[in-house]
Amino acid sequence: MPTAANRVATFGTTIFTEINDLAARHRAINLGQGKPDFDGPSAVVAAAVRALQSGQHNQYAPGPGLPALKQGIATHAAAHYNLDIDPDAGVIITAGATEAVFASVLGLVDPGDEVIVIEPFFDSYVPNIIMANARPVYVPLHPPDWTFDPDELRQAFSARTRALILNTPHNPTGRVFTLEEMILIAELCIEYDVTVIADEVYEHLVFDSARHIPMAALPGMFERTVTIGSLGKSFSVTGWKVGWVYGCPELVAGAARAHQFITFAVNHPAQEAAAFALSLPGTYFEELQAMYAAKRALIMQGLTAAGLKARAPEGTYFVMADFSDVFDGDDIEFAQHLTEKIGVACIPPSPFYSPEHAHIARKQARFAFCKSDDLLKQAGEKLAKLRGQPV
Ligand SMILES: Cc1ncc(COP(=O)(O)O)c(C=O)c1O
Repeated sequence: MPTAANRVATFGTTIFTEINDLAARHRAINLGQGKPDFDGPSAVVAAAVRALQSGQHNQYAPGPGLPALKQGIATHAAAHYNLDIDPDAGVIITAGATEAVFASVLGLVDPGDEVIVIEPFFDSYVPNIIMANARPVYVPLHPPDWTFDPDELRQAFSARTRALILNTPHNPTGRVFTLEEMILIAELCIEYDVTVIADEVYEHLVFDSARHIPMAALPGMFERTVTIGSLGKSFSVTGWKVGWVYGCPELVAGAARAHQFITFAVNHPAQEAAAFALSLPGTYFEELQAMYAAKRALIMQGLTAAGLKARAPEGTYFVMADFSDVFDGDDIEFAQHLTEKIGVACIPPSPFYSPEHAHIARKQARFAFCKSDDLLKQAGEKLAKLRGQPV
């Protein structure tokens, strides 16, 4: 009997699909997946409609990406981070950041290499490493501050380490790594000659005094870093799946070679609209931050009033909360209870840890606040039912 490959034998259904199904079955307010329930800017959507109707953009885009979009990404990196990116050889456009990470792992890591992953991790990283026949090495973040232990980080490095995947601002914890943390990671990567795959899809979602520091901007890091971005996150169009990889041409060339044979080229009209989106004035990002700061305040209020110990995120549109004062079970049981009995869906974070570290997240839940203010208020009212229930 033909069977599926061993390569995918350990891959279960992603927790996002499981929670989405559970939420739909129980008609729960879904604060699970990081998917805005509002539309992207109307001018950007209109640009996509124009591109579709122009008759010029309904065939294959150039494989490495639309030149105007690649230029837009280089201009954005110069304006925001003072990075000098070659728009031709230093950028490729991918099917979302998901493909960007996969193409980077396949193009920059060899079979048998070790890749350091910070836990909790975005769920595609480890399957990507496994599909590249490489080995993940885990460094956990610890609650309540979600910081790594510098000794645990140091111990993860060896002569076998080829790459480290760094996500900042960090999903699911909402951490924005500090300059001190970034420098420690950078110094170790230089010492062990390691490539950084920097997943910075939430670069524009930072709050208060937090500042996003791109890994590629640190001394000695440009030549060993590829940076990944996503149109979906910065412009609330996650369904378009437009992402990118940029950095020094030698490394981008590795990702580009893999990209040619994964998707070859990305949705052409969406790339046209993406180029338009990146040409919006810088005030667009300030308005986005202000909108999300207000949503963060709403979710924090709802979670705190319900008796959860929520940590205000410095970035992203996720908040992690400790539920141990209101529920006596693990994170999977809590997510089920919350969805079925309270009517609010959240994501249990233990699947984002390796089995040996999953206990770290056993009393935590992740809530996404990329939702309308109304929905966040309704969720707060439902969450209030947690108070006064027997623990
Ligand atoms: C950290 C991180 N990386 C990558 C992605 C994937 O982004 P895209 O939708 O552009 O593929 C996500 C989406 O949730 C994410 O949170």
